[in-house]
Amino acid sequence: MRIAIIPGDGIGKEVIAEAVRVVEAAETAFGFSIEKTAFDWGADRYLCDGTSLPDGAVEMFQNEYDAILLGAVGDPRVPDNRHAADILLGLRFKLDLYVNLRPVKLLADSLTPLKGRTCADIDFVVLRENTEGLYTFMGGIFKKGTPDEIAIQEEVNTRKGVERIIEAAFDLAERTGRRKVTLADKSNAMTYGHDLWRRAFKEVGERHPTIETNAQYIDATAMFMVLDPGQYDVIVTNNLFGDIITDLGAALQGGLGVAGSGNINPGRVSLFEPVHGSAPQFAGKNVANPIGSVLAAGLMLEHLGQKSAADAIERAVVEAINDGKLTKDVGGSLSTTEAGAAIAARVRA
Ligand code: NAD
Ligand code: IPM
Ligand code: MN
Repeated sequence: MRIAIIPGDGIGKEVIAEAVRVVEAAETAFGFSIEKTAFDWGADRYLCDGTSLPDGAVEMFQNEYDAILLGAVGDPRVPDNRHAADILLGLRFKLDLYVNLRPVKLLADSLTPLKGRTCADIDFVVLRENTEGLYTFMGGIFKKGTPDEIAIQEEVNTRKGVERIIEAAFDLAERTGRRKVTLADKSNAMTYGHDLWRRAFKEVGERHPTIETNAQYIDATAMFMVLDPGQYDVIVTNNLFGDIITDLGAALQGGLGVAGSGNINPGRVSLFEPVHGSAPQFAGKNVANPIGSVLAAGLMLEHLGQKSAADAIERAVVEAINDGKLTKDVGGSLSTTEAGAAIAARVRA
């Protein structure tokens, strides 16, 4: 197998090094091997020679690689975030990675900030639409900088795009033995685009009669994720709402440092990354939590058919948490490298 590694910016570089260390431990323990190629794309390269996502990158990944592992992109020296949009959103759109899979699974009771909740209460998956919505850069600014300026950012909802992510949610529920799919939308206010979501959800749901359905407004979802997270198995939602509620979902699991994700198109090369960003204030300090990236690497190995290795990685993370081998953000005192080494050692064992 061949994987492309894009460490990116800030803490992305540090946490991806630990994810790679854990993948290497899994290779040894499970007897498979992965060829890894690193790409130096990110703010340094962009500021040096203007390269963000080079021409031909998409075709190269599609033809020569089995998966991509990315740290994070974003740097205060690039205030408009141009390189990050080109690299991350560019890969999501151009590879048509329409499923943003973001598990919300509490791995140890001690990590959740929710009073009285345990691992039994917090175990669901958010499927975020990943190729349209408010992320298409359609719109514009008119009379910029004047008192009359107008800024329009269009939300794009296509029948194809909406239906395929909802279908993926029901398919995931069926494949993983989950009981219910919840649609989180804002159809009471966004009466065109989200009416399409409601109709598609009803139609696709009827094709999957064994799965329970619930259509909910996103504001209520935000509340229930805190008050009653146990009601969720699979949540399907649009691009922006999915972005927002998965930071909340990460918080339920112990914080942004512990959430992993996959950007997936079943027929294409897919991209795996932590949910968090480049956290510039922690960059270079060896303090970031590597768990989100390690779990993203686990999702990648599962996607590549190495389910036993992926399970072992999750078990190793659970053991490391229970043994207190943690970074500061989750109550420990280890550095990024020490926490990564602790997980890798448990994978090898
Ligand atoms: P962020 O996720 O980088 O950080 C927010 C906060 O979460 C941090 O201040 C920190 O307290 C905590 N945190 C995040 N990751 C952590 C980790 N591994 N260990 C410990 N604590 C962690 O979000 P932000 O500060 O809003 O954004 C910073 C930059 O990252 C911006 O340029 C943003 O656009 C970019 N970003 C990129 C991605 C991505 O590449 N996928 C995702 C989100 C944000
Ligand atoms: C994420 C990030 C990105 C998003 C940003 C960096 C554009 O927040 O992956 O969650 O909004 O999708
Ligand atoms: Mn986000």
